[in-house]
Amino acid sequence: MSIFFDEQSKTFYLEGKNLSYVFGINKFGFLEHLYFGAPIGREDIRYARGYSGRYANAAIPGSYDDTYETYDKLGAEISSYGSGDYHECSVQLMYENGSRLSEFFYLSHEILTEKPRIPGMPSLRGGETLKISLKEKNSDVFADLYYTVYDDVSIVTRHVEFRNATKETVKLLRAYSFTLDFPRNDYDMLDLEGAWGRERRTERTPLHHGTAFVDSKSGASGTLNPFLGILDRDTTEEHGNAYGFNLVYSSSFVLKADVGTTGTTRVMGGINDFDFCWALAAGEEFATPEVVMAFSNEGLTGMSHAYHDAYRKYLINPRFVNESRPIVINNWEATYFDFNNERLMGIIDVIEGSGINTLVLDDGWFGTRNDDHQSLGDWYVNTNKLEGGLKTIIDYCHERGMKFGLWFEPECISPNSDLYRAHPDWAIHVPGIEPAMSRYQMVLDITRPEVRDYVVNAVNTMLKENEIDYVKWDFNRLLTENYSVKLPRERQQEMHHRYALGLYDLCERIIEANPHVFFEGCAGGGGRFDPALLRYFTQVWTSDDTDAYMRTRIQYGTSMIYPLSAQSCHTSICPNHQTGRITPFDSRADIAHLGPTGYELDTKQMTEEEKKAVSRQVASYKETEHIILHGDLYRMDDPHVSNYFAFSVVAKDKSEALVTAFRALCICNDENKRIYPRGLDKDARYEIRELDMTLTGSTIMNVGFLLPNDMVDFKTFVFHLKRV
Ligand code: GLA
Repeated sequence: MSIFFDEQSKTFYLEGKNLSYVFGINKFGFLEHLYFGAPIGREDIRYARGYSGRYANAAIPGSYDDTYETYDKLGAEISSYGSGDYHECSVQLMYENGSRLSEFFYLSHEILTEKPRIPGMPSLRGGETLKISLKEKNSDVFADLYYTVYDDVSIVTRHVEFRNATKETVKLLRAYSFTLDFPRNDYDMLDLEGAWGRERRTERTPLHHGTAFVDSKSGASGTLNPFLGILDRDTTEEHGNAYGFNLVYSSSFVLKADVGTTGTTRVMGGINDFDFCWALAAGEEFATPEVVMAFSNEGLTGMSHAYHDAYRKYLINPRFVNESRPIVINNWEATYFDFNNERLMGIIDVIEGSGINTLVLDDGWFGTRNDDHQSLGDWYVNTNKLEGGLKTIIDYCHERGMKFGLWFEPECISPNSDLYRAHPDWAIHVPGIEPAMSRYQMVLDITRPEVRDYVVNAVNTMLKENEIDYVKWDFNRLLTENYSVKLPRERQQEMHHRYALGLYDLCERIIEANPHVFFEGCAGGGGRFDPALLRYFTQVWTSDDTDAYMRTRIQYGTSMIYPLSAQSCHTSICPNHQTGRITPFDSRADIAHLGPTGYELDTKQMTEEEKKAVSRQVASYKETEHIILHGDLYRMDDPHVSNYFAFSVVAKDKSEALVTAFRALCICNDENKRIYPRGLDKDARYEIRELDMTLTGSTIMNVGFLLPNDMVDFKTFVFHLKRV
């Protein structure tokens, strides 16, 4: 059993793979966080709880004459402001009389074998769930805390559901998904920062007194990823304690680490409370998004494995997650908006028989969209470009054994569109104020059911009327004007969360309703790469930056949390359209083959040599795809700090591995460079095709591979290891 309650000490022990999470009910009924980390025994660990701070701190109401307990010195599972807890708190309510005081105390608990879904929001499946019901001490506001643990992955998930059983409207000024207290104040914080074209760069900084946070205020999970890591100062890639907090959420979020004056570090987060206020009317309920908390005492690698395994097993669409992926030819960088049936057919003709098996027709097939100034929202075919509708090109693909994919941007609208002319108020705006444009487009107010109905109907009609096998769901701008014309004044600050709920409703009604269609997510490159959308999109376009060198950095950072099987990668032409850089064709393919792969170039412009190379590259991708989709990733060289990048990806049973290294610049008379593959079976013998040698795992891992210093920049070195 993974959840255990000790009646005597009133302690909960949540025991997952290689982790324990422990908290107790104290004499007031307050839930005290006691421990999160490597597995420990089911012992009474209250001896180590924080001591009270008699002189300077406020006593918990009711404890003044007794033991003088103070909230400030106690660990918390839910923390609220106003009664002496001076850390950042996870909940702040406001009653009609203006009071913001709240204290949540234990009522009851139950253990659920079936993980309940979170109303209106995606979450992980499976595991064993503990539900703890709390009541606010002085009112009839209830909070249910949910915790789920798993025998086979090193994560704990959490979220909170509030219920207002008072007779008044209670405002949620802050309603985070979780809080917990680490016992020390000397940790590092890890985050994944970035921007368009350079997404998810790892950034590690020491915490110090005060609050550090990552957030988004843009209505999208954004380029700052909804992830926060807490690391021991000496944690490395391979050793030490690493904790991760990743929100299953796609809108404005915050994750905080608050080092107070008590020698502890409180970590918390959820919906961003900046410009947020939710009016919870009498009788209403409110659910927070889920957080996925991972732990490893085997460094960042262990933390990444926890996330990769959990997401592949319990989050991503089980229909597709284990399947071989479409190998696509995408026409975006090949043609941009300038295409017709003949041009697309020409692109396909060149690669017939190469193993590329899916055409993805990108932006520009609908309305009168010949550039990005118009037609978003007009989801009907531009027959000037595509004579005969989509059927001609779809049939052309299907006759050649290829699948057909189509690009949509369901959440957006161009002011120059039939949709906007018919419904100008459907775009997010504040009446009478000129809206901010981004890429000449606006965002639909999908908090409104009639707008969602239009989108669902438009996309589902295209999917029903055409044999579409694959959809690329894009979202190319962030939100401005945090306002909905349909919400009353006092609910305007609910907009960003309502946007997320609207988005999930669209996903349910389009993606779940078309189970045979494979969905890929995208957001102006990798601008919305989060676990909530991975519940719907089997893979996500990692970045618009397809330059092999930049991709080593982007894919390195993304791999901290997200499995390679979720990172869509393409080989494009040179000079690269984002950086102008010229890299060898094989290097581009080798880096693009570290995820579900594809090509994004005008095949007709390829040289004869490149055409031959595509077939060879696709064949070698197919040979190793199962390792990329299901294997364990070991990072070796970090391209942010090194001239090199190196991954070894090892099959779960250690029978095979793909080792890919990359050297950015050739340096004259350079020092010797070795890479040390990781994760192999030390006793097994592996055949290394590229070296024409057989060596034991221990030799390979300890002696390493010497990379030749030939005079080529941006060069890859690939080794496919097979156990003999
Ligand atoms: C975004 C995507 C690209 C492409 C364009 C089309 O930038 O990231 O891959 O689909 O939109 O407009």
